[in-house]
Amino acid sequence: MTEAVDAAGGPGLTLAQKASLTSGGDAWHTRAIPTAGISAVMVADGPHGLRKQTATGADALALSVSTRATCFPPATGLGSSWNTGLIEQVGRAIGREAAAEGVSVVLGPAVNIKRSPLGGRNFEYFSEDPLLTGWAGAAFVRGLQSTGVGASVKHFAVNNQETDRMRVSADVDERTLREIYLPAFEHILSTEQPATVMAAYNKVNGVHCSQHHWLLTEVLREEWGFQGLVVSDWGAVVDGVAALAAGLDLEMPPRLGGPAELAAAVAGGELAESALDAAAARVLALAARPAVGGRVDFDAQHELACQAALESAVLLKNDDAVLPLAAGDQLAVVGEFARSPRYQGGGSSHVLPTRVADALSAIRALVPDPGRVSFAAGFTLDGQPDPRLVAEAVALAGRARTVLVFLGLPEPAESEGLDRTQLDLPADQLALLDALAEVHDRIVVVLSNGSPVTTAPWQHRAAAILEGWLLGQAGGSAIAQLLFGLANPSGKLAESLPVRLRDTPAYLHFPGGDGHVRYGEGIYVGYRYYDTLEMPVAYPFGHGLSYTSFGYDGLRCRRIGVNAFEVSFTITNTGRRSGAEIAQLYIRPIDPGLDRPVHELKSFTKVSLAPGASSTVTLTLDERAFAYWSPGRSCWTVDAGAAEIQVGASSRDLRLRERVRLDGSPERSPLTADSTLGEWFGTPAGERLHAAITAAGHADALGLADGKLPPMPAATPLSRLVSFLPGLAADQVEEFVRAARDTRTGHHRS
Ligand code: GLC
Repeated sequence: MTEAVDAAGGPGLTLAQKASLTSGGDAWHTRAIPTAGISAVMVADGPHGLRKQTATGADALALSVSTRATCFPPATGLGSSWNTGLIEQVGRAIGREAAAEGVSVVLGPAVNIKRSPLGGRNFEYFSEDPLLTGWAGAAFVRGLQSTGVGASVKHFAVNNQETDRMRVSADVDERTLREIYLPAFEHILSTEQPATVMAAYNKVNGVHCSQHHWLLTEVLREEWGFQGLVVSDWGAVVDGVAALAAGLDLEMPPRLGGPAELAAAVAGGELAESALDAAAARVLALAARPAVGGRVDFDAQHELACQAALESAVLLKNDDAVLPLAAGDQLAVVGEFARSPRYQGGGSSHVLPTRVADALSAIRALVPDPGRVSFAAGFTLDGQPDPRLVAEAVALAGRARTVLVFLGLPEPAESEGLDRTQLDLPADQLALLDALAEVHDRIVVVLSNGSPVTTAPWQHRAAAILEGWLLGQAGGSAIAQLLFGLANPSGKLAESLPVRLRDTPAYLHFPGGDGHVRYGEGIYVGYRYYDTLEMPVAYPFGHGLSYTSFGYDGLRCRRIGVNAFEVSFTITNTGRRSGAEIAQLYIRPIDPGLDRPVHELKSFTKVSLAPGASSTVTLTLDERAFAYWSPGRSCWTVDAGAAEIQVGASSRDLRLRERVRLDGSPERSPLTADSTLGEWFGTPAGERLHAAITAAGHADALGLADGKLPPMPAATPLSRLVSFLPGLAADQVEEFVRAARDTRTGHHRS
């Protein structure tokens, strides 16, 4: 047990000892200093289950040698549950397993935004939307840290691709950072106190995240008040001195000579010793976290993993209510994934599961006569076409009432360290589906994929499509229960499913090249792009069917403060079986002064209801819900005027709407000589200006004859008028501004 000591003046730590603390003891431990009574603590991956490398695999890259642990649904699944309470339970469960294994920090959650469906680690991330990502990430941190084990919110920031991930510079404007790529981190830090934040590999606008002073100090600490420790991603530090000066506290894994560099920099006056003291103190605080220990009930953990999987699958299509299946039907189960489930992604998050439930066995266990459930592999996991397997599957299908086809992406297709290059299912699987559709018209497709696949080319061949994403070790059991209606699907898409790759927002820019990736689509990520352009998608953000149906009514929006509202509405289960509905609340700006997405998710809730039951939901919208980041003012800004509150079952199935009036941001900068005539004339102060311009005889020159302002002068800053009106002097412009300021109502409207 290490007493928390103050590195700055504690038990006389030497400069070399303090420097050594800011570098790991090995790939998975902080540095111990036994002579100073400082012990090491262990950290381990990962976001959907513990990956604690065993002694033989202590190096950072021995990814497959780890202790057994419960493999929960990766974030791509959990994010589709939209159930923050459930995600919190999963965080807590992973914390329990970490504590029992003596691990003090779990390296998760991963809260990067799914900028492109090609992202190789999209399976590890929750959503394309920052609010859903932030709420899910906060729930995970809350649960994990409730066990005493610390979290590591990663990868800070703008780590949205695997291509050239350790060198590429994400070139992104501040408004896009503020509105899309930082909010999830901001939300988590403002609601939870995560033990650590992990600095990403990539650069942001040319500077490595591990030494990005604006990110690690100005934003993370000075703006957001983060008190915890900043750890590098593994091998992300390029310049140890610059990293520590920028706000990094701990370099992992240790780099030979790293501490000596730091000590020399301090001794040489290149690095302030106070910066080293602060970093060492944070490492000591982390090392002082009490060891938790405890026992784990792995049956209960598996049961929770199954519950999480049940809520993560998304029913995309269900024509003629072909689902749920009748347990006595003759079934053909086709597809190797039914027997060899695809349930997680590759790389550092990979968990060695305690057990794995495959769908085929689970289906056979659920039906009265397993003999009526036949199986054909249909394809091999290596993607090599095999006509024999197809013929065998087609023959089987001919004898079945319903054909269940398990398709998806083979594990090598999506992993840390690589991005995908196309969105289609493997050709051999598509050929299998075509062959089956030639002989059968009751086909149910079950998908296993960490990131979107195109469905448009083949969805007409499937009566139903269940998007299973990746569901963890219990996914096979969950799929079987959902197919037979023992559980009702309740997941909804946390990532839009595009019709084609070229329709995707980042298509022209992803993954960049030559050391740079330009975020040219800006804030228009996911549904913000598709919905603003009114572009067709295969299935929209927030979409998901149920075996029951839900009605919405009684929308009421009540002002509860400046630019803040309480929104209530009633959801009713209008079907014949219990189910859970995810109601989404979007804000649509009306006549915005700056380009903005047509609408944005600003709240949501998930409600379970018995048939015929209703529930009135109340959600609150604070000022930030209506704000955008003003590039001109470098601050969050609310435009005075109207906004529409939308309640929907998906981003494209809006059920209730109401317009509200916004007061605008009180702290808007007053009008100045740099404000345009149009901005002036839109305010009471502008009337005085109009009168002054007319009195000075310039009205005609500005085309103000009928009191209307033509576009050109309207777009001209007042100060520039002197260039267009020979009779106008600069000091007269200042006089206009002073006179208008006297009205004291010269608030600027964007
Ligand atoms: C990896 C990942 C990070 C992981 C770390 C330790 O490269 O980027 O998510 O936690 O290294 O394995």
